[in-house]
Amino acid sequence: MHVLHVVGARPNFMKAAPVIGALHKKGIQQTLVHTGQHYDANMSDVFFTQLAMPAPDVNLEVGSGSHAKQTADIMSRFEPVVLERRPDVVLVYGDVNSTVAAALVCSKLLIRVGHVEAGLRSFDRTMPEEVNRLVTDQLADLLFTPSEDGDANLRQEGVATGKIHLVGNVMIDSLVHLLPSTERCNLNGFPKRYALVTLHRPSNVDDAQSLRGILESLLEISSDLEVVFPVHPRTRQRISEFGINVSRLHLLEPLPYIEFLALQRRALVVITDSGGIQEETTYLRVPCITLRANTERPITVTLGTNILVGQDAVALKSELQRVLDGKAKSGSIPPLWDGKAGERIANILKPF
Ligand code: UD1
Repeated sequence: MHVLHVVGARPNFMKAAPVIGALHKKGIQQTLVHTGQHYDANMSDVFFTQLAMPAPDVNLEVGSGSHAKQTADIMSRFEPVVLERRPDVVLVYGDVNSTVAAALVCSKLLIRVGHVEAGLRSFDRTMPEEVNRLVTDQLADLLFTPSEDGDANLRQEGVATGKIHLVGNVMIDSLVHLLPSTERCNLNGFPKRYALVTLHRPSNVDDAQSLRGILESLLEISSDLEVVFPVHPRTRQRISEFGINVSRLHLLEPLPYIEFLALQRRALVVITDSGGIQEETTYLRVPCITLRANTERPITVTLGTNILVGQDAVALKSELQRVLDGKAKSGSIPPLWDGKAGERIANILKPF
């Protein structure tokens, strides 16, 4: 059997690493394709090193562009690679443009597609990722879900039960594996108590008024609690474009995986609009305030430490106050978020 993996953007790397590792242990032939959606060293290369991933066999070097252009470039550059390599299964990860582009190419070539992190739904089609999830799951032959809500969503959309495999959360595999390495991180330069912030959703950062509103709330918070903020390139561009003064916040370049985990683990609270960070904080039992009106990861709210506040500055402040008062949710870890999801996927793929 020959498995070809497609990764492209930062959140894909920690999901693919455990699956690649588990298939490697079984001696299965693998090819790794990087679409080049993320290309900065600190958005891509450093993750390959820290996650001990093999270097990509092929890099499609698509870079940035509009959704249509980026997706189309991935498709036209990926097709000849698949035709040449003829894998038995192509695995795609998460919900980025690289995921849906590769799934579309394979389904037209009648090559079996497996979607890792299938079934998640925010039910908000204004999010580009929701469109990517819906299309990818319709095309996939094997759907690997992180939690029971994913299975229910897929059944609701008419996906045959036999294609759905509840395997748990692969991203938590990487977290479990690398958590001990966070002990070696030197956080001496950082404040003792801090809120860790990440922000990159187009709906939050591309609109001047929303970005200004969120950053003003963070500036207000910073008088009670230091704010540590590794900034995504998209957000950094917008802050400078809109001329917003953020000098009271600790702005950093995007961080490597282990350093970011170390900061999450020690944070008093995490404030984010990311998908994966809602899950990581749930596992780490760190309070998480999510600056979104909905989440495709509802289990982080029902079982975990996550709270949604949308762009409501009053709700953000009152949730933060609860954390400062020691009244945050402590939550519990969802079933099958145990570091073994990659192995489960490998066991399911083995017979193909
Ligand atoms: C993508 C994913 C998003 C994911 C996020 C994680 C889609 C639709 N979105 O969003 O789901 O949460 O990655 O980071 O696939 N840029 C750089 N260097 C890079 C990559 C991007 O400077 O290495 C800048 C470019 O100006 C680019 C912008 O960031 O235009 C946005 O990049 P893009 O890949 O389009 O989407 P993300 O916002 O990163």
